[in-house]
Amino acid sequence: MLRKGINVINKRGLYYIVEDGNKPLRFKPWLGDTFSFLYDFIMEKSIFPRKFGGDINRHYEILAEELKGVHEKRVLELAAGSGSAVNFLPNDNHYTGTDISPGLLKKALKNFDNADFKKAQFYVTSASDLPFDDNLFDIVLCILSLNFFDDVNKIFQEIKRVTTPAAAFICSVPVPERKKIQSKIRGILYSEEELERTCRESGMTYKNIPAENGALLYFRAIMQ
Ligand SMILES: C[S@@+](CC[C@H](N)C(=O)[O-])C[C@H]1O[C@@H](n2cnc3c(N)ncnc32)[C@H](O)[C@@H]1O
Repeated sequence: MLRKGINVINKRGLYYIVEDGNKPLRFKPWLGDTFSFLYDFIMEKSIFPRKFGGDINRHYEILAEELKGVHEKRVLELAAGSGSAVNFLPNDNHYTGTDISPGLLKKALKNFDNADFKKAQFYVTSASDLPFDDNLFDIVLCILSLNFFDDVNKIFQEIKRVTTPAAAFICSVPVPERKKIQSKIRGILYSEEELERTCRESGMTYKNIPAENGALLYFRAIMQ
């Protein structure tokens, strides 16, 4: 399951990559780590209405519709945060959640447990350098996070590497052309055209998911 030469330790349910001397690899804290106890509240009451001009329940509905037929698959989520996937992913899947924030992943662990996922594991890792072997996952999710990554090309290459042929990448991300509210959205906003091109250049076939929810774009890309 892990790339050759990668070692991990499990601390209170989360896997950490270890380097020489068994020291867990840590990442630069993201705002969400310090405020992880408030994260879900901030997303629902502030980010969705005030930054995206959208609705969190509509967001879950769109993703649940897209994932309703997904059962017993090996699902990887990049930047899983506090585990919002329990709101749209059927709980019989074999789920691997990753994020740089241990604070948020601890919340995710609880949420997945409460949602009765029998096979869920969580790794503290960056999306741009995944510890996993090639050809492992049937589905990759990246929800509301692509704008936080500096190098999307690298992320898309990693997605291609860790997925099986014909696997699906399902993504939701704010895009500049759908943004109607003045308030600034953090990170780098890529347009739908740029995302479609990056998919194509990474060996994926891009397909828009026709759904409206403020600044958010939903798409599915299939590995060629
Ligand atoms: C807005 S949150 C979205 C979380 C979750 N997917 C959701 O829908 O609620 C963005 C997430 O990206 C994570 N993140 C930022 N940079 C990352 C990176 N390079 N690799 C992995 N996760 C990262 C943050 O820790 C945070 O959990």
